[in-house]
Amino acid sequence: MEFQVLLSLCCFSLLLFLPRLSHGGWFNSINKCHPCPQFFTLFCSALLWLDKVMSFDYGFSNFRSNRRSLLRLKTENVTPVRLDPIRVTQLSWQPRAFLYKEFLTHEECDHLIKLAKDKLEKSMVVDDETGEDIETEIRTSSGMFLRKAQDDIVARIEERIATWTFLPPENGEDLQILRYELGQKYEPHFDYFVDKVNQQIGGHRSATVLMYLSDVKKGGETIFPRAEGRKLQLKDNSWSNCAKKGYAVKPSKGDALLFFSLHLNGTTDETSLHGSCPVIEGEKWAATKWIHVRSYGRSMTEDMDCTDEDVDCARWAREGECQKNPLYMVGDEETKGRCRKSCNVC
Ligand SMILES: *[C@@H]1O[C@H](CO)[C@@H](O)[C@H](O)[C@H]1NC(C)=O
Repeated sequence: MEFQVLLSLCCFSLLLFLPRLSHGGWFNSINKCHPCPQFFTLFCSALLWLDKVMSFDYGFSNFRSNRRSLLRLKTENVTPVRLDPIRVTQLSWQPRAFLYKEFLTHEECDHLIKLAKDKLEKSMVVDDETGEDIETEIRTSSGMFLRKAQDDIVARIEERIATWTFLPPENGEDLQILRYELGQKYEPHFDYFVDKVNQQIGGHRSATVLMYLSDVKKGGETIFPRAEGRKLQLKDNSWSNCAKKGYAVKPSKGDALLFFSLHLNGTTDETSLHGSCPVIEGEKWAATKWIHVRSYGRSMTEDMDCTDEDVDCARWAREGECQKNPLYMVGDEETKGRCRKSCNVC
């Protein structure tokens, strides 16, 4: 009889405490399992054990790592991806933009920087007319691309991005690592393409995940000059003057910014105009994942038969036929173009 009373009491208090346990974190060691003796201690130990051994995410044992509320999405990989939805804020609907605090650990940030450090080259932009890469003063950073799933850490980050955005990993381009030194910037631009050549593979870029790999003492904000909330955002002197010209996001090591360049109906969203303000003090490192409407992956077999089917392809490409005559030269989803190699689409 006594045991039953004790049991219901314990269950009741457990019910009361459970929500607090996973949020409060004061209940994070087995020593604290004593408010209600014996049974509760046993039960509590069992929970802690489950939490540790089975990784059930009750949030007892590892609260300090900020695992307050977690989504665990199963992927093909053995370790499921963990997401913490309460660390995500919606910044704007026009454009659709979201910020995930501490998306990357500091170790992951440092790792990406290390991989990129001695491989940086001056950043290019895509020419709107020809679709070719060109050097310009609009974009003064330097950067490089990491191969997809280049190592376990990169693979894990790419999986996390796919899980967060609900967009398949094969729609993503290779991760780009960027460094902005003092005074370097990227003038406001769109991530979607205007030219047709760059839309041949995967279609438009529809979403961008921009991850800050370093803190920047001053400047280096990401700015959306046409965002609906630009006038409502209050800014003190910790923001650069450039940042005051739009809705701005301060770079903070590990944070990730997700925004969409297309409307839900698939048309281009002009409010997605964005840029990187000049760095005033410090250095800015960032990683960008561009995600396309369709698969961007080039399979091995496609890569192997990357050829021209006409001896004149190179000349035609030089004369601009890739742009003027894309269906013949580049092809579309159903038919392969005859000059894919010279048009740089494989
Ligand atoms: C697509 O959606 C946007 C935003 O809701 C709207 O302004 C635009 O007119 C739509 N375009 C078409 C073709 O439906």
